[in-house]
Amino acid sequence: MMSDCLAVNLPSGPIRDLDRFQVARMVIVGHGRNGQNDFMNITVFSTKSYDRKFLDAQNHGKHRLNYLEVHLDEKTAQLANGSEGVCAFVNDRLNEPVLEILAKGGTRLIAMRCAGFNNVDLAAARRLGILVARVPAYSPYAVGEHTVGLMLALNRQLHRAYNRVREGNFALDGLLGFDFHGQTVGLIGTGKIGQVVAKILRGFGCRILAFDPVINPEMEELGASYVSLDQLYHESDIISLHCPLTPENHHLIDASSISKMRDQVMLINTSRGALIDTKAAVDGLKSGKLGYLGLDVYEEEADLFFEDLSGSIIRDDLFSRLLTFPNVIITGHQAFFTRDALAKIAETTLDNIDLFSQDRDPSKFPPGRIVDP
Ligand code: NAI
Repeated sequence: MMSDCLAVNLPSGPIRDLDRFQVARMVIVGHGRNGQNDFMNITVFSTKSYDRKFLDAQNHGKHRLNYLEVHLDEKTAQLANGSEGVCAFVNDRLNEPVLEILAKGGTRLIAMRCAGFNNVDLAAARRLGILVARVPAYSPYAVGEHTVGLMLALNRQLHRAYNRVREGNFALDGLLGFDFHGQTVGLIGTGKIGQVVAKILRGFGCRILAFDPVINPEMEELGASYVSLDQLYHESDIISLHCPLTPENHHLIDASSISKMRDQVMLINTSRGALIDTKAAVDGLKSGKLGYLGLDVYEEEADLFFEDLSGSIIRDDLFSRLLTFPNVIITGHQAFFTRDALAKIAETTLDNIDLFSQDRDPSKFPPGRIVDP
């Protein structure tokens, strides 16, 4: 495979606001074309070494992938100047001002390398003639299994047990758990991931309650019962969120919904951070209403997750408060992070780029790949 390095030409204007550290961290490596005329120049934001490895393996040198470590935002958007395609991830900011800069620079395709698109202003994209594609399904098992992992770890306090045993403390006081068998689990959102979680938990012998505006018949075959949100809050020992974040369900879990839940309820969120009002969750933990909290996502995660900040001061007091509770486990948006999922994400993302490069025709994409306002 041919590969070459591109010079980094910093455009004039707001990009100068980038600090020297950010600029130094930019990695721009291009992988050559093979002479096809459907070749595209793609700027890939927020990349880590693992993204580059999986995308390169799928690209086979066809498109020029310009890898950047920086997030996409108002300051960095100009770095995509001249790229017809931009590939972005969960914490990139694709609001109207950013999309306007991209459109001016010639971008016509946003290839999200994730399922969610809550960070994209779809109306602005449409107005600017930018097509937004995504990876609607890659591995619901990756996220579903991590969700159940959080539940099991919280119940049996594996995070605390791990530390105790390493310090020679084999006492069991404070580690008392419960049987999953016979527990009632409420799933909010019963699409691909919610269904995987339901299947695993049925194997444990749990009773499943579900809430989703769209009824999934396979959930009913599994023995799940669709109920109102209020009934789900009232009757569930464990509540797990598997719906997308939309303007309508922002802070779905707030003080009011928490007050309807069982005492000592276990709450799990592997979907999107802003589904939960974090302040209300902290209050629920302090009062003892929430007995366990497992998070893979956090509403202000863009400033924290995916980076090694172990030598820095965390200025987010709400997040720091969450870390003080013994009955809280937080993982840094890693639920998707399996070999299988990364390979599938890269495959679908490159397929979206190929489809666009061939015809620029949205009707050629498989269902669910193109997102419209
Ligand atoms: P999906 O599209 O298969 O299912 C989502 C379900 O949520 C649909 O059945 C839909 O009808 C339902 N829904 C929509 N609005 C709702 C509401 N207000 N209340 C209840 N249900 C509602 O999506 P999938 O693949 O199951 O993913 C679910 C979410 O998981 C994604 O939207 C994404 O935010 C999150 N996710 C998190 C990852 C991670 O690494 N932590 C990775 C992948 C996805």
